[in-house]
Amino acid sequence: MNDKVSQIIAIANQKGGVGKTTTVINLATAMAACDKKTLIIDADPQGNASTGFGIKYDQRDKDLYSIICGKNNINVSIKKTMIPKLDIIPTSPDLSVLEQELVGLKNREFKIRDLIKEINEFYDYIFIDCPPSLGLLTLNALCAAKSLIVPLQTEFYALEGLTQLMKTLDLIKNNFNNKITLQGILLTMYDKRNKICEMVSNDVKNHFNDKVFKTIIPRNVRISEAPSYGQPVLMYDISCPGSQAYASLAGEIINQEKDLK
Ligand SMILES: Nc1ncnc2c1ncn2[C@@H]1O[C@H](COP(=O)(O)OP(=O)(O)OP(=O)(O)O)[C@@H](O)[C@H]1O
Ligand SMILES: [Mg+2]
Repeated sequence: MNDKVSQIIAIANQKGGVGKTTTVINLATAMAACDKKTLIIDADPQGNASTGFGIKYDQRDKDLYSIICGKNNINVSIKKTMIPKLDIIPTSPDLSVLEQELVGLKNREFKIRDLIKEINEFYDYIFIDCPPSLGLLTLNALCAAKSLIVPLQTEFYALEGLTQLMKTLDLIKNNFNNKITLQGILLTMYDKRNKICEMVSNDVKNHFNDKVFKTIIPRNVRISEAPSYGQPVLMYDISCPGSQAYASLAGEIINQEKDLK
């Protein structure tokens, strides 16, 4: 029997537009480039991770919602991306009604966890892209995950909401998933010419010490251009600073795990 299990990482922050999806797309691509078999689960009804890989709306009928509802089997919903070793379970706007449908149902926090059990052994890494809220979809991701990565945009309001997110993580740990840990806080959209970025990053490091990734993702226009070509930035322009930063983040995470062994 194959006893391999994947490292399941939720990428969450209830604040919108902080770089969650960008991190999922590019960290997963960098992992696949390091020869790690990787899966993305797009758990945000906005579907930005699916769009980021050029998956058209008419190719999303076998989406996460349809598997959670039991209409499709997980294996048929897994799509290959243009990156070797990187697969994705896409989403569609249908997923937005799921939260209401799940209210009151038994085991409503464990829908994604239970799905992943069927495919766990086939992947080294599974990344779950969360919506910008602490609703049931994010709770599902946190109940399924072994760790959490929190992208944090280096701007003035960055720390607002982080306390609430850390409380949610504790709640999940104490009630639903005692294995989950904070893998790290990832500073994103860092602009070295902007004093605020330096102040915020120092503040975050003072609060969270070694829980802040050494890799910092710079603000880089190539990162924001790539999704309009339906490509990860690592494919769009491998040599740009944004691509290099995500490659370095993948290395940092792989090394974190080596240290734990
Ligand atoms: N390092 C970066 N440099 C420049 N632009 C970036 C960077 N990271 C993200 N962006 C851009 O910022 C916007 C928000 O990023 P992204 O969609 O990844 O955030 P998000 O947290 O997933 O948003 P949401 O909460 O809506 O899901 C996007 O247009 C993206 O292309
Ligand atoms: Mg997003």
